[in-house]
Parts: sequence; structure tokens; C-alpha cells
Amino acid sequence: MNEVIHRLQREAERIAARHRAPDFYIRFRAPMAMARRLYFSHGEVIALREYVTPLLQESLGHGLFHSSRVGLDAATIICVEMEAARIDRVRIERLMVLGLMAGLLHDISRGEDNHAEAGAVEAEKVLARFPVTDEEIRSVARAIRNHEAFTVPIRSRRPAFQLLSDSLYDGDKFRWGRDTFTHTLWHMMSHQGLTPRELIEKFPWGMSGVVRIVDTFRSTTGKHFGPEIIENGVAIGREIYQYLLQNY
Ligand SMILES: [Fe+2]
Ligand SMILES: [Fe+2]
Repeated sequence: MNEVIHRLQREAERIAARHRAPDFYIRFRAPMAMARRLYFSHGEVIALREYVTPLLQESLGHGLFHSSRVGLDAATIICVEMEAARIDRVRIERLMVLGLMAGLLHDISRGEDNHAEAGAVEAEKVLARFPVTDEEIRSVARAIRNHEAFTVPIRSRRPAFQLLSDSLYDGDKFRWGRDTFTHTLWHMMSHQGLTPRELIEKFPWGMSGVVRIVDTFRSTTGKHFGPEIIENGVAIGREIYQYLLQNY
């Protein structure tokens, strides 16, 4: 990433910091803290993180930063919805661990055509080395297969595995909010070798793509809180666009 892009990313972070955090990140601090605790202390999650870190492609904006945040939001959604359904703690924590694992693995084949399908196949191979049941492996793979936007997902018979799939999708699409403008955009700009003027030309088209995701959230929590996360990102994106127009 060159100095110009670095400076732009820092400016984008300054702009984002002036915007209030979306409600999801304020309302669900407790489930999020639980997700974070599992992410940093659960043995299988730590081992998987160490395994996938060198395989994730930071250059495409889909490295550990992205994958860990997808898993943390997926695990948070799982916790929120299972607590509401009064499911016992052990089952909640197990599905949260699978959510974190699905997040870490979902973009493992990001560089390939049909990366959701390729990632699902790869995830099955990786998880076979871990103490995870066959049914759990299949459900993580299905969630990864289902994570592409604007496709029809394959449904699960078991509500818990359906929640795993829906929460992975929503955790991934939450990233289309402010993370697009503080993180992904600059990695893509760097990867594609764009100048600021070229970025300006592509910007309106990119923004219209972001807005289309609003109607696609799948979990109850995602449908409720996802649109505001996207609106928050779009507001930040508009300010970044103005900054680019004024300075380049
Ligand atoms: Fe993906
Ligand atoms: Fe992703």
C-alpha cells in the first residue's frame, strides 16, 4: 500500500470516527464480549486462527481483519438469537465457536472463481484436522457455500445450523458498512493500482452496489440492525467521496 493510499485510509478512519457506532455494536456489548472471549481463549479457535492466518489474502481486503470481524459478528448474532430462544449456555457457546470458525474460513479461497463453493470444500478439509463432528463440519461448509450475496441459499433442517448460515452471511455483509470505507476500499485500490482520480470515477458505482445489500439480511437480528450498519457506512462513504473530490 503506497503513501497516498495510506494517507487516504487514515483520513477515512478520521471521518468514520466522527460517526456514531451503529446500534448493533452498542446494544449487544455483552454478547459481543462473550464472542471476543471465545475468539481469544478457545483452544480450537486459536489453533484455527494460527492455521489460516498465512492463507488469508490481506491484499484483497479479506485477510484476518475481515475474517475475524465476520466471525465475531456472526457469533454475536448467534448468542443474541439463542439467548432469546432460552437455549442452554453450552449449546450457545458451541454454535458461537462454529460461527467464529466459519468466519475465519469463509474467504479462505477468495482468489478463486466461485470462492464460496471453493472455500466450502477447502474448509471441510481444514476442519477434518480439528475436534469437530462430521455434522458440524457439514454445517460450517454449508454456511460458507451460502455466504455469497444475491444468491439463493441452501436451507438447513436444523434451526441451529440455519442460524449459523444466516449469521455468517449477515456478519459478512455487515462489513459492507463502515469497514468498506475504512478498510476494504483501500486494499482494493492498492491491489488494482488505482489513482485517486480513478477511484473517484468508480466511487458512485461502488456506492450503489453497497446499498443493494440492505434488503438481503437473513437472520432476525441482521434484518433489524443490518440496514442501519449499511446506512452508517454509506454516510461515511459520502464524506470520503467529498474529501476526494475536494483534494484530487
Ligand atoms: Fe466472501
Ligand atoms: Fe467475506
